[in-house]
This record gives sequence, structure tokens and C-alpha cells, in this order.
Amino acid sequence: MGGVSQPKRAPGGFPVVGVVGGGQLARMMQGPAVELGVQLSVLAESDTAAAALVVPSSPVGEHTDLEALRAFAAHCDVVTFDHEHVPPHLLEALEADGVALHPTRAALHFAQDKLAMRERLSGLGIACPRWSRATTAAEVTAFGDEVGWPIIAKTPRGGYDGKGVSVASSADDLTEWISRIGEPGPLEHGLLLEEKVDFVRELAVLIARSPSGQAAAWPVVETVQTDGICTEVLAPAPALDADLASVATEAALRIAGELGVTGVLAVEMFEVRGATGDASSYVVNELAMRPHNSGHWSMDGAVTGQFEQHLRAVLDLPLGDPRPRAPWTVMANVLGGDYEHLYPAYRHIMARDPGAKVHVYGKGVRPGRKIGHVNVSGTDLDDARERAGHAADYLRGVITE
Ligand SMILES: Nc1ncnc2c1ncn2[C@@H]1O[C@H](COP(=O)(O)OP(=O)(O)OP(=O)(O)O)[C@@H](O)[C@H]1O
Ligand SMILES: [Mg+2]
Repeated sequence: MGGVSQPKRAPGGFPVVGVVGGGQLARMMQGPAVELGVQLSVLAESDTAAAALVVPSSPVGEHTDLEALRAFAAHCDVVTFDHEHVPPHLLEALEADGVALHPTRAALHFAQDKLAMRERLSGLGIACPRWSRATTAAEVTAFGDEVGWPIIAKTPRGGYDGKGVSVASSADDLTEWISRIGEPGPLEHGLLLEEKVDFVRELAVLIARSPSGQAAAWPVVETVQTDGICTEVLAPAPALDADLASVATEAALRIAGELGVTGVLAVEMFEVRGATGDASSYVVNELAMRPHNSGHWSMDGAVTGQFEQHLRAVLDLPLGDPRPRAPWTVMANVLGGDYEHLYPAYRHIMARDPGAKVHVYGKGVRPGRKIGHVNVSGTDLDDARERAGHAADYLRGVITE
């Protein structure tokens, strides 16, 4: 790990922020890092990882290799993450070395393990779907009979983009699914079971918290998922009850405080109808302790975007203003389609809509893979949705005019 992979420190006493993982989240920290004069260094999966293409100091190493992590951390002032997959015992070893991890191992545990998250949030009295831990088919059947079929089953660790999530109408469905996914192990390792929530829509609360305990919250957003993948975010969530927005935000701030989260925290929620037609309420789906897809809108739509805020938070700097710059910002994800050439689409998109803000991640096109997003802000929600959706669809090649 020599030469170009060592960060060159800029004059002026600026720190180096290390990011484990070279995906699009690490990549999108680079824009604000450049603006702030902060140096990034990325421990990347390969020299063509999304972040490695734009951060000069991107040593290649595995996030499961303690020696690689140690050598990397040695040239960083603080270390943060692009994903949640660094094994806990390695995080522990780094902390024992004195490395400043944000979030800490103790906090990250609740984003790494969905069973631990459910236990902890339930203990705090935060509203969750009815849930249980199952290790036998009989326990699965008992839970389904109690809450009603179908149920949702989740692998506690390692899921993303809906990949560790299954809908099951019977214990047999579930055993079939488990043998199909193979990883991360059989039912005996423990599965998280949840009632299938009949939600009105999905919401996300994004906040940032610094080690000193300062916190800032963006407006609550609506997230739209297609086949388990987030495809669109509406900021703020349209027609959201003001009381619900404030209790949901308070819950997220409380979770961050109780769990000691540092950096950006996303709390994914389901909006549910109250009993007997009462006002809506929420239940928490899951936590992510890093910048999150539900916050990409803020890069163009808020005074302080989530990537700048994450850097401020992990450096324990005062946080920036999270307020929106426009009544509405819509984010449309660009998922990989059939066309691998993205750049030729720029001429059309940019000519058609000078207000659309295009972000691409430098990733190879694979069907369904998140390869970019488009933000459009404005005063008319439907118009912003149409424009963001059009640009995203054109980029992925599903429409040609
Ligand atoms: N208990 C539930 N009831 C109804 N739908 C659910 C439930 N849990 C999850 N889902 C649906 O499955 C999607 C993915 O679930 P979850 O967020 O737990 O998985 P994930 O793979 O970690 O997702 P991601 O990484 O995309 O956020 C949710 O956004 C929601 O649409
Ligand atoms: Mg999720």
C-alpha cells in the first residue's frame, strides 16, 4: 500500500476521513470533501470501485481483512463507512487500537443485526411491527398463526435492496427460501419474523448526530420501492400529518441519542393507519447508519446535503442547516437497464431539462443495480416527479424520447 494510495495532506491542518468501502456513498462524499478541503481516503474493493475512480487515495483491501483495515486506519484521523458489513470483531480490534470509528462498533451493531435492532427498539418503547426470532419450523408456524399469514422473514445480517427479505405463507415456503438463498445459514441460526405490515406508504427520517451530541433532521420523506428496491423519494413526504412528522422525527432523534449514533442515521418507517380511522402513526422498519438512498435528494434540495453533513458529523464539526431549498425535491434512482452507455443520453436529458440534476456513480451497468439518480426541485410535485422520472428512465434506456 504505497505511493498514490497514501493521502497527501493539504496544508492548513485539515484532517483525513477514512471510508471503508468504495461504493457510491463513499464516492458522493468526495464532492463535499473537496469543497471543505478535507481529504478522503477510501479502502476500496478494487481500483475500479465507484469511489476509487474519484478519490486518489484509494488503497485496495478487503473490509474483512484486519491487517488491511489497520494499515488503512493508520493514515486516517477518523474512519467511517460506505456499508455495514465490517465484522464486529474487527471493529472491536480497531477500537482497541484507538481508531475513532463513526459510528462506533456499539452503535453499528443495531444496523448490522436486525434482530438486535428489534430487541433494542422494542426495549426503548419505539413502535415496531410485531416480530419474533425463530429457529424452528414450529416457531415459524406459531408466529404466523398468531399474527396472520403471510408473514415477512428476514436474515438478520447482510441483507440489502430487499435481498434478505421474503414473504412467506407457510413454514414450508420459508424453508424453501432458506435453502435457495443458502447464505447466511439455515433456520437454526435464527431468523427475524415480522407481521406483514399493511402500510399506507413508506417513510424515512434522516438525521445526523455528532459525537458532541448535536443533531439535525431533514424533513421526513416518502420512499417508493419497486420489487424491494427504492426507486423514488419525495421530499418532503406529501400531505404528511404534521404531528406524525414531528413524532417520527423525535423518535429518530431519540434512537440516535440512545444508541449513540454518530454520522448520518436513516430510520426507515411504515406509515400505518390508526385504529378506527384515527390519525396515522408509524412503525420502524430498519436503521441505516450512513448516508442513505432516502437522503440523495438533499444533495441538491437542502441547504446542507447528507454527504457534507456526514463529514461534519464524523469530524465533530457544527452541523449545517438541513432545511429544504425548494417546496419539493424528487429523487429518481437510475437502475441498470439494457444499455451500458450512459453518457450519450446526457445530450437529450440536459437539453430537455436544464433544471434536472444528474448524478452517476461510475458503476458498470447491471440490470437492477443502482447506477445513479436524478434530482429535480420545484414548486409543483407532479411536475418534479415527471421530470425526474423521465430523466432517470431515459438514462437507463427504457424510453428513447
Ligand atoms: N414487516 C414488513 N411488512 C411489510 N413490508 C415489509 C416489511 N419489512 C420489509 N418490507 C418491505 O421490504 C422492503 C425491504 O425490507 P428491508 O428494508 O428490511 O430490507 P433491506 O434488504 O435491508 O432493504 P434496503 O437495504 O433496501 O433498505 C421494505 O422497504 C418494505 O417494502
Ligand atoms: Mg430497507
